[in-house]
Amino acid sequence: MTSSDVLFKPFKIKSLELANRIVMAPMTRSKAPAGIPGEANAAYYKRRAQGDVGLILSEGTVIDRPASRNEGNIPFFHGDAALAGWKGVIDAVHEAGGKMGPQIWHTGSVTSFLSDWLPDVPVESPSGLEAPDKPRGNAMSDEDIADTIAAFAKAAADAKHLGFDVAEIHGAHGYLIDQFFWDGTNHRADKYGGKTIAERSRFAVETVAAVRKAVGPDFPIIIRLSQWKQQDYTARLATSPAEMESWLAPMADAGVDIFHCSQRRFWEPEFPEIDGENGLNFAGWAKKITGAATISVGSVGLSGDFIGSFSGEAVSNAGIEKLLTRMERDEFDLIAVGRALLSDPHWASKIRTEKWDEISTFTPNSLGELV
Ligand SMILES: Cc1cc2nc3c(=O)[nH]c(=O)nc-3n(C[C@H](O)[C@H](O)[C@H](O)COP(=O)(O)O)c2cc1C
Repeated sequence: MTSSDVLFKPFKIKSLELANRIVMAPMTRSKAPAGIPGEANAAYYKRRAQGDVGLILSEGTVIDRPASRNEGNIPFFHGDAALAGWKGVIDAVHEAGGKMGPQIWHTGSVTSFLSDWLPDVPVESPSGLEAPDKPRGNAMSDEDIADTIAAFAKAAADAKHLGFDVAEIHGAHGYLIDQFFWDGTNHRADKYGGKTIAERSRFAVETVAAVRKAVGPDFPIIIRLSQWKQQDYTARLATSPAEMESWLAPMADAGVDIFHCSQRRFWEPEFPEIDGENGLNFAGWAKKITGAATISVGSVGLSGDFIGSFSGEAVSNAGIEKLLTRMERDEFDLIAVGRALLSDPHWASKIRTEKWDEISTFTPNSLGELV
């Protein structure tokens, strides 16, 4: 075995068969004019399929709600024109032998830190808060909630009809679903709120159940989750394995096949007080607790995390030995790669063929173009 062979083992779950364990992390590019993905977007994703990425997750793409996005060039995942654009994307990826799913998203009440674009109706969230003590927009009514859940399900059904291989629900990073999870932004007194993470998960569980109903039993569903929020990097939804179980198990029961556990640095242990500084990360614990497949992520192949990249911090390429060690011990099933794949579409094939020196280094400038 060459050292990176563990990354290039096939993986199968339900109807999804992947040639290897490398996933392109979902990355907003704000390059879909008027919300419609076009040829440039299709070519961008196709290059990653040609570059041996096992599974491509699209940038966040939003559901059919009046204020579901926080930036003008984020793609829609609704409406004939946008869906025709996405059909062009998945056909191009399939032509190159790739597999792909859209990341289905609602930005809740979060303001974009990249632009001052505003939707033309008030934003919505569980309690009309963007962050703790920071009111913004409307608290959602029961009707808003039911309509939002239906819009997630419709988007997933459309993904399947267009030919996508999987769908990911974006439940992380402080956006709408995460605003329900987090006690800092969910103060509801109804069945969608509550003191415990299990109670505040109801919105996500109902969303997953509706998506499952819409796509049928064999189409894999991923949900992306994070302890951290962009509103507070130190926030945690589950502070013990028992709490994590009460958060994740109902979502697995409702139909999640793969938990995509977002960390900024994949090597950081989730509960070091239990299994030490080299202990399981978030994806490791999620797999151990639920038995479901998991994806890890965070600074693979790079020396610094992605939040630093948004403020222009330079990074250098780094080795992947720590990743291989964790994958060899089967801690998680798949690994998502973000920035390294933004600057070098052929990152995966260069890892496979051990052309370490040929990997282009990520620079914050690559955020501006679709390389
Ligand atoms: C430009 C950019 C856009 C991103 N957009 C999204 C997004 O739309 N949805 C999401 O879940 N994460 C998003 N992320 C986070 C990435 O998916 C990933 O978790 C993060 O970059 C860490 O991986 P990396 O260290 O390999 O870059 C974004 C990251 C970057 C750099």
